[in-house]
Amino acid sequence: MSRVRAVVLAAGKGTRMKSARPKVLHELCGRPMLWYVLRALRDAGVDELLVVANAEIAERMPEIGADAGHGSVDVVIQEPQLGTGHAVQIALEKLPSRPGTLLILNGDLPLVEVALIQRAVEARSGALALVTAKVPLPSSLGRIVRRGDRVSKIVEARDANSDELALDEMNAGLYAYDETKLRGVLAELGNDNVQGEYYLTDTIDRLVRDGERVVPVLAENFISVLGVNDRSELATAAALLGRRICEYHMSNGVTILDPATTYLEPDLQIAADVTILPNTAIGRRSKIGAHSEIGPNTRLVAAEIGEHVVIGDSIIVDSTLGDFVRVGPWAHVRGGSVLDTGVHIGDFVEVKSSHLGAGVNARHLAYIGDATVGERTNIGAGAITCNYDGKEKLRTTIGKDAFIGTNSSLVAPLEIGDGALTGAGSVVVKDVPAGGRVAGNPARPLASKAD
Ligand code: UD1
Ligand code: MG
Repeated sequence: MSRVRAVVLAAGKGTRMKSARPKVLHELCGRPMLWYVLRALRDAGVDELLVVANAEIAERMPEIGADAGHGSVDVVIQEPQLGTGHAVQIALEKLPSRPGTLLILNGDLPLVEVALIQRAVEARSGALALVTAKVPLPSSLGRIVRRGDRVSKIVEARDANSDELALDEMNAGLYAYDETKLRGVLAELGNDNVQGEYYLTDTIDRLVRDGERVVPVLAENFISVLGVNDRSELATAAALLGRRICEYHMSNGVTILDPATTYLEPDLQIAADVTILPNTAIGRRSKIGAHSEIGPNTRLVAAEIGEHVVIGDSIIVDSTLGDFVRVGPWAHVRGGSVLDTGVHIGDFVEVKSSHLGAGVNARHLAYIGDATVGERTNIGAGAITCNYDGKEKLRTTIGKDAFIGTNSSLVAPLEIGDGALTGAGSVVVKDVPAGGRVAGNPARPLASKAD
């Protein structure tokens, strides 16, 4: 696509959402609605972008823009919000005029596809190419009134008569204007309509009266231009987006047993031959290596998972798991934890900000927090690192090949050497040397076998 500038309309009140949050900041599949529009524009090759927003959206734009892959996004604040035509007036006051195509997109089109944006740009030869869609009736969208293969005007559903309401071709909210011609008619917009707003859609009538050409670009599927105006449409769009993300991974060789209950965010890296079991949510740019099995009932957030890993009925947040690790059922790994190759974390075990060496086992009912555990060490059922003294978090270091007995309480700060043993029920308050054996409350060295 040659040089194209785009304006995204995102300042609207979103009254029908009945929310304190601006409409385009509502999330679908872990990203704000607006993110999807910005990502599609990036992928379509738009080289200049301006978002019309309110103050709350403007504050979040650097983060959302960067996450969607834009170097920077310009924002103009529209206050008060007097309609889509008014929003474009504000945008064009801010932009120095640049002859050529000006794309305008409603910010509430999270399912918009890159190819459709490109088709609109390519279809424009005169004043405007306008994306339309055949939508099942009844619908609240603007109706396309045609004269042959040209558009003669758009009538908003609220302002339409019964004949116009029966038309099933709708305005999608995606326009490729000739910028100079748009500037020519924008100042003439009035607000004599049911909502008392300045409608962008009224520019069509003006352009046509001036003898300009407005061509429709019919979307193949109305789903891709589904506008989100209320919570029900939000749920519908989220389900469709979720399905689209699942389809992408399935096409790359991932098995997803039940896409309807698999909640994937954009920008995940999932290798071929991964299997995802039902009721599983994966987000925040998680990565999963080949042959791993994730789920059921599992949540991964910013997780980096190796190959041949099995995680079931568990939660992994901000953590890295090496190859052949097994987690679950009902385990929680978080806070930058690192589990090396072959670690096995079992039922009701929580691991927080800890590094577990290769082959460590903690199979039942343990809390390992702020700890470093050496290779092959076994953590018994009910063992706890007492890492908090009421003021500070303190560290526990356990060597390799150690044996932490059932119900041991390890009171940090503490160091337990390689090959050491703590007896069942020990309360360990003093460091244990390599090969040391302690038990009791407080734990004391056990008599050696020779005694
Ligand atoms: C709009 C179109 C309608 C089309 C539909 C497609 C108009 C007048 N109507 O209706 O023909 O079928 O989209 O989904 O354009 N916005 C602003 N400032 C404002 C008002 C709105 O930035 O003052 C933004 C909103 O945040 C939203 C977009 O413009 O992202 C569209 O506004 P919305 O209120 O959703 O318009 P619709 O009623 O859906
Ligand atoms: Mg809308």
